Amino acid sequence: MAQAKKTERPDGRKLNETREMEAKVGIIKRADGSAMFRMGKTIAYAAVYGPRELFPGFMQNPEKGILRCNYDMMSFSVTERKRPGPSRRGVEISLVTKNALGPAVNLDQFANTVVDIFIIITQADAGTRCAGITAASMALADAGIPMKDLVSAVSVGKVNGRIALDLVKEEEDLDGTTDIPCAIMSRNNEITLLQLDGDISEAELIEAVELAKEGCHKIYEIQKEALKEKYKEIKNE
Ligand code: CDP
Repeated sequence: MAQAKKTERPDGRKLNETREMEAKVGIIKRADGSAMFRMGKTIAYAAVYGPRELFPGFMQNPEKGILRCNYDMMSFSVTERKRPGPSRRGVEISLVTKNALGPAVNLDQFANTVVDIFIIITQADAGTRCAGITAASMALADAGIPMKDLVSAVSVGKVNGRIALDLVKEEEDLDGTTDIPCAIMSRNNEITLLQLDGDISEAELIEAVELAKEGCHKIYEIQKEALKEKYKEIKNE
């Protein structure tokens, strides 16, 4: 009995279950596109501005527009106050987020411009880079940026020796946990982000990525629903 208890997840979820999710699009009126995505206690907001002419001019690409991304967590988003301002972690997550979204957007028609994405985490319980990517992808679609597909992201991992979907902080913090944030374009299952922190065998990694795909397909449906919902609201105004 004690053994069974030990392998239970802290919030009682099944191993292949995500946390409860919520998505909303068009929430920041002055942005060209915006969205909120909540996964359990992790909440991400994303705002998109552009395409707009990029200054200074030497940074412009005369062949296509460029993406720029800034990720940050609010000081009060975690139990121990996060120091405000840029951090190494913020720089890394901004970069991997930009790279995860890049394959989905097509800025060929927008030479010399920039599309800025700002992601802010208001509440963090692990998986913030994934929630940020999911929110940003909806915000890009809301801004009308040409896209191949939406990008959906979730973290998978090995917790207590078992492969589990959408880890919470308590699980991430356990000794021996392997955390694998993944981002996927669901239409062709193209993986645009795969990071790995910890140890895992090849067979387990394959199992974990398959589980991430399942989770991302579920998130994809919620993203599409939230985008449609915005237009329902406009129709009813
Ligand atoms: O959030 P994500 O899992 O993408 O990235 P992480 O660097 O692995 O951080 C895991 C979690 O640690 C975050 O989601 C926060 O809950 C927590 N954290 C924190 O409490 N204080 C920080 N300065 C950074 C992260």
